[in-house]
Amino acid sequence: MKLPNLLGSITPPYENLFLKSCRCEPTPRTPLWLMRQAGRYMKSYRALRERYSFKDLCQTPDLAAQITVEAAQKLGVDAAIIFSDILLLLEPMGFNLSYEEGRGPVVSPRFRDGESLTRLKAVSVQESMGFLMEAIRGTRRELKPEMPLIGFAGGPFTMAAYVIEGGKSKQFKRTRDFLTKENTLSRKLFEFISKATIDLLNAQIEAGVQAVQIFDSWAGNLSGENYRKYVLPYARMIIGGIKKGVPVIHFGLGTGKFLDTFSEAGGNVIGVDGQIPLDEAWTMIGSRAIQGNLDPLVLLKSKSSIRKEAKKILDQAGGRLGHIFNLGHGVLPQTPEENVRYLVDVVKEMSQKGTVIPVKAGMTTDLVAAGLRYD
Ligand code: CP3
Repeated sequence: MKLPNLLGSITPPYENLFLKSCRCEPTPRTPLWLMRQAGRYMKSYRALRERYSFKDLCQTPDLAAQITVEAAQKLGVDAAIIFSDILLLLEPMGFNLSYEEGRGPVVSPRFRDGESLTRLKAVSVQESMGFLMEAIRGTRRELKPEMPLIGFAGGPFTMAAYVIEGGKSKQFKRTRDFLTKENTLSRKLFEFISKATIDLLNAQIEAGVQAVQIFDSWAGNLSGENYRKYVLPYARMIIGGIKKGVPVIHFGLGTGKFLDTFSEAGGNVIGVDGQIPLDEAWTMIGSRAIQGNLDPLVLLKSKSSIRKEAKKILDQAGGRLGHIFNLGHGVLPQTPEENVRYLVDVVKEMSQKGTVIPVKAGMTTDLVAAGLRYD
């Protein structure tokens, strides 16, 4: 017998566990997704990479959409994240960008002086990032309506660091020097990056994402004091410029020591890495949602270790509203695929709350899925 879809009228599209947790609303279990859930650890992705460069994958909407949807569906996570990269915005800004085997991203010419400032180009995201918007529209068409899609951009420190360093760096010495010694120039660069980032995130929202994450991955290389002085105003400006009502996740590595300051930028969810216990982090960010924070290295270990470490995090969350389970950083390329799937399964199983009260046969699972009914 086909049951009527009673939920259709009370559940707007995309209202799932992940979005509820972003707003600290009750959910029947802890939602999860994983940073870099689509990537080199997946056999199907590696096969595609034999035929296309990483940049080509990002800039071919059908392929980017296919990678996004496949990863989310295969893993059974509660959100998809669009397959793209934070650095692609640098090309329309006037930089050259390449991804080099063994070296990572290379950006040229480096941003160093007043002349670099004159070379910056105002970005029209609809035109120059059209491939991303097309990928988002294509992904949205393929994803189940209740599966949210996350859009993203780099955070101000991380983006500035790539253009000042010309690529990845261990200590970001050049960037830190630049911030303190070239105050006016640095503020102009940060302002330029922030404006383009706001446009980029709002364009992604318009194209169809349900939440956005700001990856200020390298911000933790600053002291709390310098973060407050040089970066916080721009992080706040970006978050303040994002269309209201769309959950914003603000993530950085190594920010545990100044999470209170980091959180002052705003955002509905703070993403934390594995260096700080989740409960300690939660105390520092106050009453809002938190995302994290299993060390990705745990996924290289045995199943029993994965289970144990994931349980530790769920215990630290203690069933409080607003925990989104994730890694502390992206899935590592050498991770066995089956370990990732195992993690998804055990988090779902271990975080299940209470016993479902059957209302009418066939309805309970839908109600639970909608987060409407549980003990
Ligand atoms: O999370 C996801 O699944 C969405 C996709 C995503 C990628 N990069 C795909 C990617 C996201 C959210 C990013 C963000 C990103 N990109 C950050 C911030 C967070 C983080 O993970 O550190 C940074 C710093 C970048 C810049 C960048 N892009 C780096 C440092 C690298 C790694 C270079 C290397 O040699 O490993 C990339 C490449 C990249 N971005 C890959 C993927 C899947 C690997 C590309 C490949 O070789 O196939």
